[in-house]
Amino acid sequence: MTQEISISNREDILYYLKTKSKKKIQNLYSLANTLIEKFKDNKVHFRGLIEISNVCEKNCLYCGLRRDLKIDRYTMTKEEILNAAKFCSDKGYGSLCIQSGEITTQKRLEFLVDVISTIKKEYNLQMTLSFGEMPKKSLQKLFDAGGRRYLLRIETSNEKLYEKLHPKDGKHEFKTRVNTLKDLKSIGYQVGTGIMIGLPYQTYDDLANDLLFFKKLDIDMLGMGPYVPHPKSPIYIVKPRLKDAYAISIKMVALARLFLKDVNIAATTALQVFDKKGREKALSAGANILMPIVTPINLRKNYLIYPDKPCIEDTKEECFNCLNARLRSINKEMGKNEFGDSIHFSKRTNNL
Ligand code: 5AD
Ligand code: SF4
Repeated sequence: MTQEISISNREDILYYLKTKSKKKIQNLYSLANTLIEKFKDNKVHFRGLIEISNVCEKNCLYCGLRRDLKIDRYTMTKEEILNAAKFCSDKGYGSLCIQSGEITTQKRLEFLVDVISTIKKEYNLQMTLSFGEMPKKSLQKLFDAGGRRYLLRIETSNEKLYEKLHPKDGKHEFKTRVNTLKDLKSIGYQVGTGIMIGLPYQTYDDLANDLLFFKKLDIDMLGMGPYVPHPKSPIYIVKPRLKDAYAISIKMVALARLFLKDVNIAATTALQVFDKKGREKALSAGANILMPIVTPINLRKNYLIYPDKPCIEDTKEECFNCLNARLRSINKEMGKNEFGDSIHFSKRTNNL
């Protein structure tokens, strides 16, 4: 029997973040699952993830793609991207997500506009974009080309912690991040953000505040995953204060579902670094989005944001079959050929 609970404020969130009671935690997961199934039945919506370039102008202290790291850099051709999009369309994914490191050149912008408008013309796929911070004018151009959702993680809503995790070079400003999220909203995107969990210095208070931040910003989509220390990154030597980033991440998914209710929540790939069934656990605890990697297999080893990233050797086809089997194992199914847009977004934009 599940026991009704309400997650409506900071204290509720902190209580569940800290509890060790297996019964209470199971109850939390079960209620979160019931709520998402009320909105979306047992459907999980896919966003085929195309990691189009690992070139990045930024130098975030935790990331395996940071500018200062000597790794093989690549940018996919338009044809390669369209091939990956075709696969998503053929398999009924309904949506794709185009992601890259941050590059703000005019040439890149024009390339993206071309790619996005071609995909829009040729396929009935809803497009999520994830290219980091950009000037509002550029974001507007990508929207006009056909992008409808944008993911930009805040990483942490604690400005002081944000500053500790990013170089002080004037290019990594917390305020710019928040303002970009606001720009995205005013342009008309479905706005997604998120955090890493178990970061150096991060506390339970920070995580509770992150959920309040999402609510205040009225976001539509959420992607939260455990921080995975990267041995070549400068922050590697700082040991996180919170133990068990994985278990806390699943709790955060469930708490976000019960607190924010109708937003889309991704079962992120990083969960699988800690537990082979990490994504299924999240999908049984309130998450409703999967992002299967559809980047060409020869490039995936160069998109290692964090070490031990799963699924880098499976072909797109194997990945598709594996995910469907995983969904069946938890009594869920793919929302085939459906966009699976955020319900929160339609309510917000229709003033419901
Ligand atoms: N561990 C987990 N996630 C990471 N990201 C970057 N570095 C790491 C890491 N070491 C996440 C950030 C970023 C997204 C693309 O990848 O949240 O927004
Ligand atoms: Fe670049 Fe994103 Fe990595 Fe920061 S987190 S270094 S912006 S790819």
